[in-house]
Amino acid sequence: MSTRPGRPPEAKPSAPVSRVRVVFLVGFMGAGKSSVGLALSRRLGWSFEDLDERIQSQEQRTIAQIFQQSGEARFRQVEHEVLRSLVRELGAVRAKKVIALGGGAFVQASNAALLEQDGFSIIFLDAPAEELFRRCQQDGLERPLRRELQEFRALYHARRDGYMKASLRIETSGRDVAAVVEEVIHSLELRRSESAPL
Ligand code: S3P
Repeated sequence: MSTRPGRPPEAKPSAPVSRVRVVFLVGFMGAGKSSVGLALSRRLGWSFEDLDERIQSQEQRTIAQIFQQSGEARFRQVEHEVLRSLVRELGAVRAKKVIALGGGAFVQASNAALLEQDGFSIIFLDAPAEELFRRCQQDGLERPLRRELQEFRALYHARRDGYMKASLRIETSGRDVAAVVEEVIHSLELRRSESAPL
C-alpha cells in the first residue's frame, strides 16, 4: 500500500487514553482506601503506597504512638510534611501510582491544595458512618480517632464536605473490593490494556 507523498500518515483512531497517572484514595476511616488501593494498583500494574505507612517508617513509631506521645496537631504536621515530599517525588519521577491517604489528610486544606495537579485524580470512597464504624471494628486496626459511634458519626459528617471536593465519589456500601476497583477503572477511563486480565 502506498502513501500519498507530502502527507503524514494518518493516525489510527484509538481508545481514549487517560491522562491520570496518580490516583489518590481518600475518605473516612474504614472506607477501604488501603485494600481498594492495593487491589487497584495490582490490576493496573502500578505501584501502591499508603501515606500512613510512610509516616510510620519516617517517625519510627506507629500512628497510635504519635497521637499518644505527641498529639494530633503534631501528627497533622508530620502528615503534611510527608505528603508534600511524596508529591515532590511524584513530580520528579513521573511514575504511575495509587496512593491511599489517612482519613483526615484530604480534609486539611493545605493537603488538598498539594493535590491540585495535572494527572492527579482524587477518589472519595464513601459509605454510611455506621458501616464504616463496623468495618473498623472488624479489621481490628488501632485508630486513635475511632472511639464512640456518636463521636465517629459527628466527625464523619463534619468532614464530608471536604471529601466531596474529590474528583469523584464512589459508594462502597455493600460492595466488595473488586467491584469498587472496576468502578474506579471505568470512571477514570484507565485503559484495559494497562490493566492485568480479570
Ligand atoms: C485518621 C485516620 C487514620 C490515620 C489516623 C487519623 C483520621 O487512617 O491516618 O489515625 O483522622 O481519620 P485510616 O483512615 O486509614 O484509618
